[in-house]
Amino acid sequence: MKDILGELEARRDAARAGGGQRRIEAQHAKGKLTARERLELLLDEGSFEEFDMFVAHRCTDFGMQQDRPAGDGVVTGWGTVNGRMVYVFSQDFTVFGGSLSETHAQKICKIMDLAVQNGAPVIGINDSGGARIQEGVASLAGYAEVFQRNIMASGVVPQISLIMGPCAGGAVYSPAMTDFIFMVKDTSYMFVTGPDVVKTVTNEVVTAEELGGASTHTRKSSVADGAFDNDVEALAEARRLIDLLPLNNRDKAPVRPFFDDVAREEPSLDTLIPDNAHTPYDMKELILKLADEGDFFEIQADFARNIVTGFIRLEGSTVGVVANQPMVLAGCLDIDSSRKAARFVRFCDAFEIPILTLVDVPGFLPGTSQEYGGVIKHGAKLLFAYGEATVPKVTVITRKAYGGAYDVMSSKHLRGDFNYAWPTAEIAVMGAKGATEILYRSELGDPQKIAARTGDYEARFANPFVAAERGFIDEVITPRSTRRRICRAFASLRTKKQANPWKKHNNIPL
Ligand code: HXC
Repeated sequence: MKDILGELEARRDAARAGGGQRRIEAQHAKGKLTARERLELLLDEGSFEEFDMFVAHRCTDFGMQQDRPAGDGVVTGWGTVNGRMVYVFSQDFTVFGGSLSETHAQKICKIMDLAVQNGAPVIGINDSGGARIQEGVASLAGYAEVFQRNIMASGVVPQISLIMGPCAGGAVYSPAMTDFIFMVKDTSYMFVTGPDVVKTVTNEVVTAEELGGASTHTRKSSVADGAFDNDVEALAEARRLIDLLPLNNRDKAPVRPFFDDVAREEPSLDTLIPDNAHTPYDMKELILKLADEGDFFEIQADFARNIVTGFIRLEGSTVGVVANQPMVLAGCLDIDSSRKAARFVRFCDAFEIPILTLVDVPGFLPGTSQEYGGVIKHGAKLLFAYGEATVPKVTVITRKAYGGAYDVMSSKHLRGDFNYAWPTAEIAVMGAKGATEILYRSELGDPQKIAARTGDYEARFANPFVAAERGFIDEVITPRSTRRRICRAFASLRTKKQANPWKKHNNIPL
């Protein structure tokens, strides 16, 4: 018996050693943790239960039968994050560069199937040279099996990808189909074709970091949702995100103990809106003042900064926030901000996370680049996302709500449950100056007349009361009382039930 136990331990030690000390040191020298070290930081201490530690590849080409490391380049299993179950896989770059073989893919598929069956998130740590070159099409088939599971799991359990090394070629499409992607600055990259192929085909000279590094994907492409300085920070932030999310689409997000007054008044909000309607202010200040303990988890902070998306808690419950940001492009909607917010709204709706919308929007950004880029279809994504969402929706208009953008931003007409406005709200087809210039074109030569007309228009429309008279705004609230009002609103909506008509699926303007 002793011998058998000894053999088991020896086999386990060999599996845990991955590709050996030399390769582990090389991994550390790059500033990267190993696959197992990452899982230790991601999961609660001692909670990891491993599957398939002894799985080995079955490839016999290129002398591969001589080299069959236990585990085959990916560590899989489940564990807990603050006591809540998650399924995990972590690719081991020290074993064949973390490349994906048929058996490596089977290990990932096994835990994805269990995650869907048992209703728990999948967290994938990607650090891989891509398809296992020695295995050819078997490896490609393995990728497709993972892709199919990503698709089936979408909207059923949260899927989070942590990119902590190379992720190239078709391999990028598995993370791309997950809900959130976090990258590590300087040590991770994602691209469909690498710098050498790019040089050959387009003659562009570009580094891997420029082509697909963390800052490229969080600032330019919006492929990734967050960029972090190192593995440790990315893993800690992943834990924070998991804490905010439900385990599956039949579950509610966890309610955490909170140490904040639900009725907390914020007198400073009464003066948040500047006297001049063209002067910007920081919408994030409002978000922080509304949130329990001022805690805000921002998603895509560096992309389309004219709209802010992320999670807060109110009375301990997770709420998704979408807010126009007057500090950037006056908070207008454009292609990028519409896409960013639409995806976020759909995530919240899929996982029953209520949505708070804070509105200060002068309209859609004009221009040929927007029109040629298809702002009509992209803007419609956000409109569609809000209109189909059946989760509790509370909206607060702080200042401008002009034109189509008024309709889009979770208006009453898109089944907003509570639509509040501050007294500073201006709800109109457009700003007073633009409106008078169109209505009184013949008087444009007379600045005094135009100024008077603009004043009249402002007095008539630059307020929340025209909309409130029609019931499009449920109540005009004092800014200082906003936290109390929205907390009560969401509390009253906890039992909300709303369903859309049966359909196979909708045809959102992609
Ligand atoms: C098998 C691989 C491998 C792969 C790396 N290795 N990639 N083994 N299949 N795809 C092995 C190396 O042989 C080496 O083994 C070890 O991993 C570390 O690799 P290095 O090259 O020494 O590391 P580094 O210098 O850090 O470079 C990392 C790398 C590079 C940039 C990822 O290895 C590389 O370019 N690999 C090939 C990438 C690729 O073309 N993959 C296929 C893409 S197509 P030893 O024994 O020396 O430690 C694809 C399609 C997916 O993925 C399709 C889905 C539909």
